[in-house]
Amino acid sequence: MKTQICIIGGGPSGLLLSQLLHLKGIDTILLERHSREYVLSRIRAGVLEHGFAALMREAQCGDRMDREGEIHEGFFIAHDGRLDRIDLHKYSGGNSVIVYGQTELTRDLYEARERMKGNVIHNVEDVHLNDLASDAPYVTYRDGDAIIRIDCDYIVGADGFHGVSRKAIPKDVLREYERIYPFGWLGVLSRTKPVSPELIYSKHERGFALCSLRSQILSRYYIQVPLEDSVEDWPDHAFWAELQRRLPDEVAGRLETGPAIEKSIAPLRSFVAEPMCYKRLFLAGDAAHIVPPTGARGLNSAASDIYYLYHGLVDHYRNGDDARLDGYSDRALARVWKAQRFSWWMTTLLHRFPANSPYENKLQETDLQYLFSSELAKGSLAENYVGLPF
Ligand code: FAD
Ligand code: DHB
Repeated sequence: MKTQICIIGGGPSGLLLSQLLHLKGIDTILLERHSREYVLSRIRAGVLEHGFAALMREAQCGDRMDREGEIHEGFFIAHDGRLDRIDLHKYSGGNSVIVYGQTELTRDLYEARERMKGNVIHNVEDVHLNDLASDAPYVTYRDGDAIIRIDCDYIVGADGFHGVSRKAIPKDVLREYERIYPFGWLGVLSRTKPVSPELIYSKHERGFALCSLRSQILSRYYIQVPLEDSVEDWPDHAFWAELQRRLPDEVAGRLETGPAIEKSIAPLRSFVAEPMCYKRLFLAGDAAHIVPPTGARGLNSAASDIYYLYHGLVDHYRNGDDARLDGYSDRALARVWKAQRFSWWMTTLLHRFPANSPYENKLQETDLQYLFSSELAKGSLAENYVGLPF
């Protein structure tokens, strides 16, 4: 087989790029290790920046998001038994975010690719990237006993943190930066009315908690748990009781509980690989960087990579101009690092760090007091949360 761009990974990054390029007449083949059902069963992010939403519309995939997604102009931070609101609209100069689940967004992208007869191949095994340094790279994968070869101009590694693409870059070229946090998030999805119409990020001495939602009948809650915990340690009743303890009384009193329809634990990690390209390979999304979920930046950072890569590839094929493609890694990383800083800051502000000294705990409390005493500090939080410009 032959194509212009071979994309590895059928998560939001790979699908969005494939869809955008298709609309500009650029041919792609997308390889995904799992079935579509499996990809759509993963419950992940829920908050979209307005820039991401604009990109979904440009990809002709924004209709359901605009119909069913909720525009949020603020969120709450709970601390010391009370709720303080961050007015995103006021502090970010009129911007907001959209609450629309990654699962739904991925479903919309798959349906668009299908409608436009995009070449998306599922259940591929043993994907290999070959001859990256030449002008004729190719990708191989196994389909049963057969080895299939795809010749292409460029390869895009959008295969997530555990994918093969980043590992294809020589070790002496790649520099990796990492921070592992000493806790994870236990997430529960439940068919219950959300406890609050806007998200609540809660700092509590027992640990962090987040009240989020997918719709007015579907709630998504998270609590900070030790790294050693497993889902089996948290039957539904224990989860709800712990969540209630970490919320202010007025919120805990109105929490509607019900059976968990999904429950999973995600460890928290910050990670960046530099550069985000090697010869004819470009990395995008979680394949190149991971953030702790606290600031809702993971999926949104993937979207900005796709924005830069999409424009670079369109300039290359349409205008013979490689300036933006050559500058992809530098431009993407400049924004990626800002999302890293913000996610690290929000994680540090709101979680319980078991090994913190009393001095560090005082600094954490002061950081929060400063936030609510300063219009500029609230402005900085809001500006980052709604998404910095691409
Ligand atoms: P992915 O969504 O990981 O997609 C990569 C795809 O590549 C996958 O479908 C995978 O099956 C496929 N793949 C992997 N290896 C291969 C291979 N060898 N060959 C072919 N295909 C391959 N972000 C937030 O903003 N908020 C959240 O609450 C949040 N929660 C998260 C919870 C979890 C458990 C995880 C893992 C991430 C979470 N994130 C969250 C981050 C967010 O989901 C990611 O940033 C987003 O999924 C990145 O999209 P992506 O397409 O780059 O990568
Ligand atoms: C969700 C996850 C986040 O990490 C976040 O900051 C906000 C919302 C969610 O899954 O709904």
